[in-house]
Order: sequence, then C-alpha cells, then structure tokens
Amino acid sequence: MNILVCGGAGFIGSHVSKSIRRAGHVPVVFDNLSAGHEWAVQWGPLVRGDLSDRDAVEAALRTHAIDAVIQLAGSINVGESMQNPGKYFRNNFSISVSLLEAMDAVGVRKIVFSSTAAIYGIPAASPIPEDAVKAPINPYGEAKYFTERLLDWYTKARQFQCLALRYFNAAGADPEGEIGEMHSPKPT
Ligand SMILES: NC(=O)c1ccc[n+]([C@@H]2O[C@H](COP(=O)([O-])OP(=O)(O)OC[C@H]3O[C@@H](n4cnc5c(N)ncnc54)[C@H](O)[C@@H]3O)[C@@H](O)[C@H]2O)c1
Repeated sequence: MNILVCGGAGFIGSHVSKSIRRAGHVPVVFDNLSAGHEWAVQWGPLVRGDLSDRDAVEAALRTHAIDAVIQLAGSINVGESMQNPGKYFRNNFSISVSLLEAMDAVGVRKIVFSSTAAIYGIPAASPIPEDAVKAPINPYGEAKYFTERLLDWYTKARQFQCLALRYFNAAGADPEGEIGEMHSPKPT
C-alpha cells in the first residue's frame, strides 16, 4: 500500500514511516517541516506542504495513489495550548477537517489518527480503562477529542474506516540508531 504519513518528518511519524517500509509498504510523508526534520524522512518521498492546504493534500493523495492515511501532524505542547488555544484548535482540529474533506473527494477513506491520553483529563482510576470518561483539561486534549468525534461522524456519514490511538508519553529512539527524538523546546 501507499500510505500518506502526515507529520512523518516528526518524532513518532519517522518511526512509523520506518515500520511501514519494513512491512513492505511505501510511506509518503506529508509535512510542513515546522517541527520535523528533512533528514528524518528516509523511507519514502517527502511532500512538503501544510495540511490546511486542501488542494495540496488532494494532489498528494492522487499523485502518489494513496490507499490509506496516518495523521500525526499537529502541535504538541500542552502548556502552549493554554496560552494560545486558537493555534491548537486550528492545528490539531481544523487541519483534520480539511484532510478528511480532501480524502473524501479523492475516495481514500481509511485513516489512523494519532490521538492522546490527554482526552481523559484527570482520570478517576489508573491504569485508565479505554471507556473512561473523556474530560480534557486543556485545548490540546480538547482539540484531539474534537478530531476523534469528527472521525466518528465521517465513519457514520461517509463510510470512513477510522482508528484513533490514544498515546501516553512516547520516549526513546530507534534501536538501530537511525532516528530519534529531536524536539525544540525539549519535551515537556
Ligand atoms: N510525543 C508524544 O509523547 C505524544 C503523545 C501522545 C500523542 N502524540 C501525538 O502524536 C503526534 C506526533 O507527535 P510527535 O511527538 O512525533 O510530534 P512532532 O512535533 O515531532 O511531529 C509532528 C509533525 O507534524 C508536522 N506538522 C505540524 N503541523 C503541520 C501542518 N499544519 N501541516 C503539515 N505538517 C505539520 C511537524 O513539522 C512535525 O514533523 C502529534 O499529533 C501528537 O499530538 C504524541
């Protein structure tokens, strides 16, 4: 399969791309390089663009005959989201609206979304059961939760097949030492 990896020049996306290649598929990275690195794109082509640019996303989906999408692009600083909520609703929610519209127009309806454990807010129990109450306490988590709801409606209304992975804090580097985390500012 040809898989569009949105945010594939970033920490997690570069590891995802490496795994996709190892599994015999082609990762096509779509990234604006606002936080990612060109050197981290090693297993397939890089399309440099912003996910809010629907025409550019549609062109990438068509040009590379994409079968499915993994959406990891976004802003990742929880503290900053309390200072600048608009940025987080734009870059962690609106860009996914644009992405899904582009996918729908092209007929690509399979997506894996990089969500977050932050959608649970302050959990009543630990470990957190998957069906615990979703009560985000910051715009970062809320915008991710909005995106999960968006995916749900595209599943119901437009026959999308969607999966959201709610990660906790990812850490570490590739065992082969080819890629690793290089965030600025340092991880919070
Ligand atoms: N790192 C973690 O511990 C963690 C935990 C839970 C969820 N997540 C989520 O996983 C995803 C990836 O996290 P990461 O740590 O690899 O972050 P990262 O900043 O390293 O990667 C994000 C990538 O998205 C790109 N990007 C951002 N906005 C874009 C836009 N509008 N258009 C195109 N590209 C854009 C950046 O350039 C970067 O390469 C994020 O969505 C994050 O919220 C991460």
